[in-house]
Amino acid sequence: MKRVMTANLLPGMVLAENVYTYNNDQLILPKGSVLDDKSIAKLEFYSTINVLVEEPINNEIPAESGSLGDLSYSQRLRQTAQFKQFKADFENAAGGFEKNINNVVKNNAPIDVNQLTSPVFELIETTNGPSNVFDMMHSLRQYDDATYTHCINVALISNILGQWLRMPEKEIRTLTTAGLLHDIGKLVIPEKIITKPARLTQYEYTIVQTHPQEGYKILKDTDLDNHIKNACLMHHERCDGTGYPLHLKAPQIDPYAKIVAIADVYDAMTSARVYRGPLCPFVAISLFENEGLQKYDTGAIMTFLTNIVNTYLLNRVRLNNGIEGDIVFINRDHLSKPTIRAGEKYIDLTQTPDLYIEAIV
Ligand SMILES: [Fe+2]
Ligand SMILES: [Fe+2]
Repeated sequence: MKRVMTANLLPGMVLAENVYTYNNDQLILPKGSVLDDKSIAKLEFYSTINVLVEEPINNEIPAESGSLGDLSYSQRLRQTAQFKQFKADFENAAGGFEKNINNVVKNNAPIDVNQLTSPVFELIETTNGPSNVFDMMHSLRQYDDATYTHCINVALISNILGQWLRMPEKEIRTLTTAGLLHDIGKLVIPEKIITKPARLTQYEYTIVQTHPQEGYKILKDTDLDNHIKNACLMHHERCDGTGYPLHLKAPQIDPYAKIVAIADVYDAMTSARVYRGPLCPFVAISLFENEGLQKYDTGAIMTFLTNIVNTYLLNRVRLNNGIEGDIVFINRDHLSKPTIRAGEKYIDLTQTPDLYIEAIV
């Protein structure tokens, strides 16, 4: 048996332990589960750091598993001039952010919000509307779990969600900054704990879970908007009280923190893994639907998921039985299960429990 970071799990690995939520009150996956895309995303959904798996019988890594994410769709998008520009701007923004934020955290430099956020706003301004940014960001994902890339992603997703929620421009700017700075506290957690290849002790786990307070400490005496400080402190709180550090419930959680929480978990679930491109957005949506819409702000999560699904309306998708078809109708009550037209046939995924969308093609 060996312990593997969630980010490095591969489909086909077998769990050698029951995996519970961080406060041990809910079983996420039982011992003996054979991991696939969906169950690995589920572990990300619950912020599991690492799990114990059986030693593999053979060391073969599936080169191209059945569910490759949306490779061919991404490949087409990646060839456009607009995407190439986006990619260059994104890398630029991530590099600049890394330098500036370390200066703040390690050298106590004052936070220059404009300097930190302007590359993110430039990224957004040079693209064609929120759905377009979303789509390109989704195709951009490479295997790179660095905190800096994650922060830019969460800033972009928060910004897009703010637009979808029709928030005023000024509030969207504050929200975007909140997304960018939400994990700033991780930069003071010892690297060797975050990447430890062994089961974290209860003590080490507690240390990782102090990153919201650590971040809040860094920001609290600045003149940043209070929503930004609260998003840093409360982005792991959940509306049903299952989050941390304060186990707050919906009315006590800052509305900006509720939006950043959605962007944060979506990014964790969908970022690319060693063995595949980005997770298919429909797999991520089904996880939200099955594991806990009640953990998130109802208005924000419904707006988010509905708009993602709309982004892919009329797109061709592949089902897990290999059939390809176009999304023609969205079922409001089951956003991950739209109706697909395959040739002359209409497949209503709400009526076919064994079928799900595996990739955008
Ligand atoms: Fe966090
Ligand atoms: Fe995060």
